[in-house]
Amino acid sequence: MSVATTQFTKNNVINIAISGAAGQIVYALLPRLIDIVRSEDARFSLRLLELASALPALDAIRMELEDCAYPFIDDIICTSDSDKAFQDADWIILVGAMPRKPGMERAELLRHNAMIFKQQALSIDHCARRSVQIIVVGNPCNTNAYIVNYCTPNIPSASIYALTMLDQHRAYHFLSKKLGVCCDQIENLCVWGNHSATGMFVDYEHAIISGRYLSKGFYGDDDALMHWCAHDLQQLVAQRGAQVLQARGSSSAASAANAIVDTLTVLVDRRPEQGRFSIGRVSHGEYGAEPGLVISYPCEFILENSHNQLEALDSKGSLQIVQNLDHTQATRERLQVIFAEIASEAEQVHALGILDS
Ligand code: NAD
Ligand code: LMR
Repeated sequence: MSVATTQFTKNNVINIAISGAAGQIVYALLPRLIDIVRSEDARFSLRLLELASALPALDAIRMELEDCAYPFIDDIICTSDSDKAFQDADWIILVGAMPRKPGMERAELLRHNAMIFKQQALSIDHCARRSVQIIVVGNPCNTNAYIVNYCTPNIPSASIYALTMLDQHRAYHFLSKKLGVCCDQIENLCVWGNHSATGMFVDYEHAIISGRYLSKGFYGDDDALMHWCAHDLQQLVAQRGAQVLQARGSSSAASAANAIVDTLTVLVDRRPEQGRFSIGRVSHGEYGAEPGLVISYPCEFILENSHNQLEALDSKGSLQIVQNLDHTQATRERLQVIFAEIASEAEQVHALGILDS
């Protein structure tokens, strides 16, 4: 389904709301975000949402942004009132949540963070523009996005996303290192499922390296490479968040901000030539998932009704989940296990009574 979005265009004031704005990720995100919006011919209003206790720290961020003298930022609103932050929002990035501590699994955050996302979703449904696009970052991000979708009947499901680009970037890094190639020689290496160590799958079966399928005689010893991809690569990507957390004592922030920037860039540009990328979307049952769950799928922008090539160059595509990908039996089974993990997180939210009150 194609979604009407407010594009970054001249004379528009684009309202961008970001929660958790005094936290680590957003501190790394803001200067990068400014670099995206700087290149667009538009004006921006930033709405930074935080807990009341973090407003003094947020005020320092406001001062730093002001001290950058950006001419295209109309105003910066710092608030702990979600209605104020989300009023007429065009883009919302939901980062504000508790991060996990060393030794914790992401699913353990569910109870604490689910309530935050429910309350903010109700506010979004009430206050944001119908065309708003929402990227959920706070963990467990698939299930938090499920909650947001559940609590925003007035917002199209297709406008709600969970951030899984960081897993994709990690997969690109590890595979490029293994093969001794640059990351930009790799295409179509997407991450399916949940943003969790137990619930993600790096789809190496459709990866293309310098124009050739990875599985087709790339490396000399195909069997050894396929074994590495099916086991080691999965584990390396799945454990990377915990490794960073262990090493720095707090969870990834710069790489998470980078993943938000790349996700936002593809969603704003909407160009088919950007290729396939991973993003959590509300499923309609694709590949056997339960409809309504938020699943990371390979997605791409497709041009509808383009009449000629020149016109196509200027057009924005519509976001679609890549269809009809063939998988091995082992992968099909793995995906079903992963979908069951995501379904079980959603069931836990219902069992907590969070969505029904
Ligand atoms: P952080 O603790 O540095 O910042 C979180 C901020 O959110 C804090 O300033 C806190 O005051 C604020 N906050 C908490 N509850 C809030 C609420 N109800 N409304 C508004 N703000 C609120 O954490 P961080 O490192 O910035 O991480 C934020 C979240 O992002 C965590 O849940 C983390 O696990 C998640 N994360 C996701 C990915 C991903 O790829 N999806 C990657 C890294 C981190
Ligand atoms: C990550 O993948 O680095 C983040 O989701 C943070 C975490 O808790 O692992």
